[in-house]
Amino acid sequence: MTVPADLLGKMTLAEKIGQLNMVTADHAVTGPMVAGDMSAAMRAGRIGSMLNLWGVEATRAAQRTAVEETRLGIPLFFGLDVIHGFRTIFPIPLAEAGAFDPALWETTAREAAAESAAAGLDLTFTPMLDIARDPRWGRIAEGPGEDPLVGAAFAKAKVRGLQGDRLTGIAATAKHYVAYGASVAGRDYATVDISARTLAELYLPPFQAAVEADVAAIMPAFTDFDGVPLTAHRQLLTGTLRGQWGFSGVVISDYGAIGELLCHGVAGDLAEAAALALKAGVDIDMMAFAYDRGLPEALRRGLVTESDIDAAVARVLNLKDRLGLFDDPYRRCSPDAVPEPASIVAARMAVARETAGRSLVLLQNRGGALPLPAAPGRIALIGPLADAGTEMLGPWSAAGERTAAVSVLSGLRAALPGALIEHVEGATLEGVDTTGIAAAVAATDRADQVILCLGEAAGMSGEAASRARIDLPGRQAQLADAVLARGKPVIVLLFSGRPIAMPKVFDKAAAVVACWFPGSEAGHAVADLLIGRINPSARLAVTWPRHVGQVPIAYSVRSGGRPEKPTEKYTSKYLDLPNSPQFDFGHGLSYGAFSVAEPTVTVADSILVDTAVTNEGERRGATTVFLFMRDPVASIARPVLELKRFERLELDAGERRSLTFRLERTDFAFAGADLEPVIEPGEIEIYVGFSADRAALRGARFLIA
Ligand code: BGC
Repeated sequence: MTVPADLLGKMTLAEKIGQLNMVTADHAVTGPMVAGDMSAAMRAGRIGSMLNLWGVEATRAAQRTAVEETRLGIPLFFGLDVIHGFRTIFPIPLAEAGAFDPALWETTAREAAAESAAAGLDLTFTPMLDIARDPRWGRIAEGPGEDPLVGAAFAKAKVRGLQGDRLTGIAATAKHYVAYGASVAGRDYATVDISARTLAELYLPPFQAAVEADVAAIMPAFTDFDGVPLTAHRQLLTGTLRGQWGFSGVVISDYGAIGELLCHGVAGDLAEAAALALKAGVDIDMMAFAYDRGLPEALRRGLVTESDIDAAVARVLNLKDRLGLFDDPYRRCSPDAVPEPASIVAARMAVARETAGRSLVLLQNRGGALPLPAAPGRIALIGPLADAGTEMLGPWSAAGERTAAVSVLSGLRAALPGALIEHVEGATLEGVDTTGIAAAVAATDRADQVILCLGEAAGMSGEAASRARIDLPGRQAQLADAVLARGKPVIVLLFSGRPIAMPKVFDKAAAVVACWFPGSEAGHAVADLLIGRINPSARLAVTWPRHVGQVPIAYSVRSGGRPEKPTEKYTSKYLDLPNSPQFDFGHGLSYGAFSVAEPTVTVADSILVDTAVTNEGERRGATTVFLFMRDPVASIARPVLELKRFERLELDAGERRSLTFRLERTDFAFAGADLEPVIEPGEIEIYVGFSADRAALRGARFLIA
């Protein structure tokens, strides 16, 4: 079926504008505006889609109003932020990115889409593809980290998983287009001031990949680029997105963003704001009511034409058609829907546990503190996040089953039924009371194993959750100091939406695991790692700074003319800290060791890089091999390392596996002086290894003609 014949021709102006109006149902409000009773507007055909309404009964009731009580019976669609799971919550995207496994990324998206569709949802405002190199920015938690190649692979996997073949799943929305992650000083919603080159090289590729994967929708960022808010950025929204990349889906504004054009200082009133957004290419107005209130006036003033409006309406109707809503408006909210069988729900939970386990990064493990011995003796489980099931869900879990998240304490009890576990909070997440620290110290002294659960509250990352300090909040550093001072090997489980600067803890703790926010199965997955039921394999999708003063920080930077030399004053460095991070991009240990062979390069039609990986450890495990390049002499200074491929391998103990990376000449293209791609003849350096730590990489060179 297609959009009913001449539907557009039958619509009044108000009905057309209605299709462009998306309103919230108050279930979850992310902006400052709250919607009132929408039923009258809905009956008048002045609402085209809704966000934050879910559940088959609720969505069916709203759909019935649209289909049966409006003049033209055009179905609504329902959208929600399903950022890392709908009811079953998977790890936050920054964590999941660290699994470096597109097949896994796709699986969790497919599961989230299945759950969402079963609850009446047609569309989600996911995937979030903002490259982020500044951990002050709370939204770093929501995206795939610092690297554009990883971001592009993540984009494709997520869009495929969410939408399925030809939109048999739910529609995905790639957001926030574009460069939102570069908000100045890591402050949410702040201005963005980067070069067109950085935009092209770093921020655009994940979005282009999403478009190539046929993403149904795009959401512009709240921020501006070069003084033009993305919501009004015609060149990027229409020129690049539709013109250059051939995007034919819908552009949905962010929450209230069209109204914010006034505050940005580019529109004098709502009519001007509406005209700017529509002309730029924004089809749907989410919660600004700028189209509803401003477009008729904009039309009167000649700021827009009715054909501008028609083009946007046609795209919205087309999306509804692609979603199958003209065929069956109740497709995802049918009264006949049968609840998913328990086996499917359980299988999904198993995916959540596996994904969480594959997202836990073993940052350090001195003296083989982990895994715990088979008979661990008495365990002191200390800290504000030891028994914090709700926090484990992370910042976006609007529909998550809040009571169902497994805390570390419950997970450990289930994994070690006979063990004596003494649980002491020691300090709260953000409070200043230090009186609990004495009990934590006493428990430490009594214990054979000390596990310290530290970090952030879930709400300290995500939207509107930037932090000027990226350290342990409250009195947790003091708690850690006191426990670490007892001289026992301490295992630190760190939960956070960003890398945390805590150099003293890294100095003194035996083991540290970056757990991020692992989701519904947190405690089980963490226990799996602690007792060695799984062999850690996750790696950092972001560089981990030592101190907030080093940010923004990333592995892929230019050398500059005076690269850091610790003994020479006039080089690019700090007086009080090295430039190097606490942990490199890609860092992550396992319960064993892997080695990689010197690469060899064969240049033919393609460029083949051969190497081999050996599992030197005593148990089966997985690792990720990264292939980086450097173009040492080019017309535009190139970064010291650029990621070109990554490959996850699972190897038995002692197993050696050959690995061939195939690259094309175009992999060595970069944006020339005019930002058009060029390939310059000359030497190329290739590196393989397990992280961006340059000292540990193995390299080869070849000539590109
Ligand atoms: C966020 C978006 C989100 C939208 C709808 C906004 O505040 O920036 O990421 O999709 O709210 O909830």
